[in-house]
Amino acid sequence: MKPWIAVSLTLAAALTTSAAPAIIPYPADLQLLDGSAALTPEQIKASINPEVLPTLGAEGYQLVVIPSGASIIAATEAGAFYARQTLAQLTSAGQTPCVNITDKPRYAWRGYMLDVSRHFAPVAEIKALLDELARYKLNRFHWHLTDDEGWRIEIKKYPLLTTVGGLGNKSDPKAAAQFYTQAEIRDLVAYAAARHITIVPEIDMPGHASGATRAYPAHAGGGSERLPNFTFNPGKPETLHFLQDILREVQALFPDCGVIHYGGDEVHFGWGKWDSLPEVAALKQKENLADKQAVEKWFNRTMGAFINTLGCDVGGWDEIGNAGLAPDRTVIFWWRHDKPAQLQQALQGGYKVVLCPRHPCYFDFLQNPAHKVGRRWHGINELPRVYAFPDASTLPADLAASVNHPRVLGLQACLWGETTATRARREFLTYPRLLALAEAAWTPAAQKNYDDFAARLKIHLPQLKQRGLTAYDPFANTAEIVDQPGPTTYLDQPGAKKKKAP
Ligand code: ACM
Repeated sequence: MKPWIAVSLTLAAALTTSAAPAIIPYPADLQLLDGSAALTPEQIKASINPEVLPTLGAEGYQLVVIPSGASIIAATEAGAFYARQTLAQLTSAGQTPCVNITDKPRYAWRGYMLDVSRHFAPVAEIKALLDELARYKLNRFHWHLTDDEGWRIEIKKYPLLTTVGGLGNKSDPKAAAQFYTQAEIRDLVAYAAARHITIVPEIDMPGHASGATRAYPAHAGGGSERLPNFTFNPGKPETLHFLQDILREVQALFPDCGVIHYGGDEVHFGWGKWDSLPEVAALKQKENLADKQAVEKWFNRTMGAFINTLGCDVGGWDEIGNAGLAPDRTVIFWWRHDKPAQLQQALQGGYKVVLCPRHPCYFDFLQNPAHKVGRRWHGINELPRVYAFPDASTLPADLAASVNHPRVLGLQACLWGETTATRARREFLTYPRLLALAEAAWTPAAQKNYDDFAARLKIHLPQLKQRGLTAYDPFANTAEIVDQPGPTTYLDQPGAKKKKAP
């Protein structure tokens, strides 16, 4: 008999009916036993046994606590790490309740995206964030490193990207340059890896390029009135080489990232000038491309194939789903909740998919209807709505089954930075919704129960504060944290100007 089965059987008689411990995300199977343990590190025995992979999977574990000790069995280091996270949450005031837990995640991809272009987040803050992602068993940190407001990743071959492209932010276009050095990035990649988190870098192209084109205007391909250099020039061979040089350095900095994300979103906001660029005209003729749409697809295919040659899958927002990228080497991030066809197209096209629709996964949307600053397009993203995802009404009926599609890798929250100038504000928007997302991504659908989650969250909220984090308390309805006092604004529908709240 396998040892973990033996342990379970000998303890089965000791089951109790006491209240479940406040573990987030809640384990797939938890049996509370009589008694408790005061564990010393020597009493915690962990073993890695690849043979248990069929039952526990690559991230699952069994954790048994009895008065004389604790045993952890997992197929991988990651599984053992998650067992220790659970054990840490079980233990308070030196006492650990006796339990028999068998646990594994619902989804392989449990992500959080942070936009550091609109407003920069210092290294210490990223480390504190990674600590929390690990604590709640999230395993992907998607780092949105470049956008119109600033380029935040040092690229040795093109130093102006950071010394010029890194200047300014959404609140202050004249702010001193802020970016991560390559040494800092290597340190953060190692810090994340030690916590079983993969950092997925995003270098947005061919739109949202103003940070880069400010530094290297020769690569600009036009834009809008507000962002005149919003795109790269897709017709210039030098521009493609420039981007490929950058991606090579990115791959070297994130050698185990698995996926390099190259954006691909919202190009149509600023591609008008492509119709009059001689380089684009030449590209159209050479590649037999009829229009801008075909040029965009060609660009996406070309750069996607290049990322694949670096040994990585290519990640992109759902706009890239019709470009003809290699299905088995591409991950589509479905973000346009109002365009379910994009999700359907990605799945039918054979692509792997991460679900991160604006509703309910964008954490820059309000979390309480009375709050004044943030997005509120046809609704807001309150805690229960995040928790219910992806099982309840947040998906159109014809897509409800797709959440269990084998190519749906998982779920991801995204924090865009337009209204997040300070760490306190970023954290206020992140916690506690991150915990709801964590449980949605880990715990089997049949085990999810919002009321039960809310009861456990009440125990976690003060702990978040004790760790120095800022969190919104939806039970006490604590005050909204905004960056600076000023006129009440929220960002309404696309294209609309900032409005006064009603
Ligand atoms: C996005 O929100 N533009 C991906």
